[in-house]
Amino acid sequence: MQRKVNAEDLELGMYVARLDRSWTDSPFLFQGFVISSAEELAKLQELCKFVFVDEDKSEYEDRTLRRSIEVRPSASVRVTRSEWHKLSADEQKLSFEKEITRAAETRTRTRSYINKLFEEIRLGFSVDTDTAKAVVHELVETIAEDADTALWLTNLKNVHEYTAQHCVNVSVLSIVFGKHLGFTKDQLKLIGLGALLHDVGKMQTPPEILNKPGKLTTEEFEIIKKHPVDGYQMMKETNSIPEQALQIIRYHHERVSGRGYPDGLKGDQVSTAVLMVAIADVYDAITSDRVYHAGLPAHEALKALYQIAPGEFGKKLMEEFIRCIGIYPIGSVVELSTGDIGVVMSTDPNNKLRPLVMLAAARRS
Ligand SMILES: [Fe+2]
Repeated sequence: MQRKVNAEDLELGMYVARLDRSWTDSPFLFQGFVISSAEELAKLQELCKFVFVDEDKSEYEDRTLRRSIEVRPSASVRVTRSEWHKLSADEQKLSFEKEITRAAETRTRTRSYINKLFEEIRLGFSVDTDTAKAVVHELVETIAEDADTALWLTNLKNVHEYTAQHCVNVSVLSIVFGKHLGFTKDQLKLIGLGALLHDVGKMQTPPEILNKPGKLTTEEFEIIKKHPVDGYQMMKETNSIPEQALQIIRYHHERVSGRGYPDGLKGDQVSTAVLMVAIADVYDAITSDRVYHAGLPAHEALKALYQIAPGEFGKKLMEEFIRCIGIYPIGSVVELSTGDIGVVMSTDPNNKLRPLVMLAAARRS
């Protein structure tokens, strides 16, 4: 049952079913959620005059969870904590109910959010992302089994929408790249999972630094540089992320030159899986439009990455990435540096950046 509640009368634990405006005009990820923090409460009060609260779904601290669901304890739902054995049978049952409800709701919300993010992915028409999307969907299903882990996306989105979108892009790109390199589906899942969570540590980076449009100071950059280790530790504590994926989170800013962070790994110490995600990470970042810069077109981004590849990701792997993305598919129309328009006739596998182009129209002077 839903009732209209004025913003100033909202309380923690209330389930917000509807706003006085469209969800898309709000910063909230989920279209329906329990108010679980003072920040969420403040945000609602700032944004809305009133909302609609669903009492059946509300979870007040001093009252029992009203929603009755069938309890089917599952090994994949982490309801046991160190205090678990100290609880009475009734308390354990209630804890199960809460956890399962939360996991189910999180799964539904995360899924719809991922669908929305997929619509915004820009990879160009030459790349088949369907398989990658299917794998990421599976990953999301797995992650969402564990409500604590799944909430990263929600929380991250609240802090920084761009980062959440970027994580999904990087995951899709990494899986597309892994598929091109011939990795097995299990390997693709590990890489995709690491990529999906690679920037999760940015939840702990102050938003004013994360969103700063200008150049960062040395001190601010040092704070940003904490996110790989923060993310690694956060995800390690969940005990549900495999070590290979954790390594990607920790090392995605390491570079073959040894100039990366946090550990200054060098050469072979940086694994191929980590470097694949690193390439996808930088590629997505420089092709994305941000408030303070317009994204580069694919071919320019790849050219820039190719130039820095020897010290960053290794030349060979970068060449494979260029092959994978296929920047100048045959038949595509390109504008030459002279301003003339041409059609790509063929590509040289050894030099994807210099396709054979037939001149179609001369520049108008
Ligand atoms: Fe990062």
